[in-house]
Amino acid sequence: MKPYYQDDYVTLYHGDCREIVPTLGRFDLLLTDPPYGINIASNPVRQKYAKMDWDAHVPEAGLLPMLIELADKSIIWGGNYFVLPPHQCFLAWDKMQPENFTLAMLEQAWTNLTGPAKMFRKRVVGYAKQHPTQKPVELMAWCISKAGDVQTILDPFAGSGTTGRAAKDLGRKCVLIEREERYCEISARRMAQEVLPLFGPQAAQAASGDVSGMDARAGRWNATQAILGTMTGQTKKQTEGRSK
Ligand SMILES: C[S@@+](CC[C@H](N)C(=O)[O-])C[C@H]1O[C@@H](n2cnc3c(N)ncnc32)[C@H](O)[C@@H]1O
Repeated sequence: MKPYYQDDYVTLYHGDCREIVPTLGRFDLLLTDPPYGINIASNPVRQKYAKMDWDAHVPEAGLLPMLIELADKSIIWGGNYFVLPPHQCFLAWDKMQPENFTLAMLEQAWTNLTGPAKMFRKRVVGYAKQHPTQKPVELMAWCISKAGDVQTILDPFAGSGTTGRAAKDLGRKCVLIEREERYCEISARRMAQEVLPLFGPQAAQAASGDVSGMDARAGRWNATQAILGTMTGQTKKQTEGRSK
């Protein structure tokens, strides 16, 4: 199948992951954020987004177990919505919101990693989104760092491509699959951004995927690495080599 977008790090397919995944090989890490089945994509609170029905149902029975089988390690956001086996190391995202916040104050990822549960903290407001459930790039980069030495990553429910952006920033290979073409367009634009600024408001803007008005010559290091600050020596070397 012809990719919708491809570069040295990211391959993006436009289509249904149930049809595309069987044509792919194995991956080191499945890192994904499937529909939670809570109709968030048609939620009137999210007025600025087109009302769509992709979040009306969770993935059909058997699909997530099949995807987990394809990878050595798995991290699946929205883990509390799916029937998955018990595991010790769940990950959480504290959205740093007040008690009266009308949406979820935190989100949970199911993983099959070993080790104790861990928490990432970042405000859910304050980064621009182009998809109604867009995750912060730093969150997905943090997930990759938790998975250890993973070189190939699959996100079959890619949305605006946050997993791909984080993977590319960290010098890892990633395959994205997304069913809605409008999100593939957003994703491809985000992947095409090669060099992002290091600090300040533009770094936050870049991390969100909003590249409007941005000066791409601003720096060698990108926003994810700057904010995450957890690069391994190996990743740092790879990224330095790439940006020369
Ligand atoms: C929760 S969103 C992912 C958001 C993403 N984490 C981001 O940061 O933008 C889930 C995405 O899965 C897509 N999707 C749902 N079913 C799919 C399928 N069978 N194959 C491919 N994509 C699918 C939806 O269109 C939606 O964009």
